[in-house]
Amino acid sequence: MSAELVRRARAVQAHAYCPYSKFRVGAALEAADGQVYVGTNVESASYGLTVCAERMAIGAAVAGGAREFRRIVVATDVDPPASPCGACRQLLAEFGLDLEVIAAGPNTERRWVLRDLLPDAFARTALGR
Ligand code: THU
Repeated sequence: MSAELVRRARAVQAHAYCPYSKFRVGAALEAADGQVYVGTNVESASYGLTVCAERMAIGAAVAGGAREFRRIVVATDVDPPASPCGACRQLLAEFGLDLEVIAAGPNTERRWVLRDLLPDAFARTALGR
């Protein structure tokens, strides 16, 4: 059930720091062991320094010792719900393309598998790693 993960993404969305865009995003990333790591978008007066909610959640997860993930919920206040941006797709792909991605809006949800959101992903194999 993703209801609890959606609830976690919604809860952290309230902490979004987005005084410029006013576009609140909350992300909840579920690790293989069931642990959940959350993130919100953090903006800067130097706009280009903005970091998305998904990448903040990845940072929290990696800092917590997690490297394998099952699902991520991205909560926004728009319908249809916003999908993760390209940069976030790429960083999520670092940890596996089988990740389930769930976008939650106020009234609707959309679901994908990361490999469908990032076809022909750049990967470590290109580096010979
Ligand atoms: N944002 C995210 O947090 N995740 C995304 O995948 C797309 C965009 C944030 C960045 C910025 O703070 C605001 O949404 C508007 O772009």
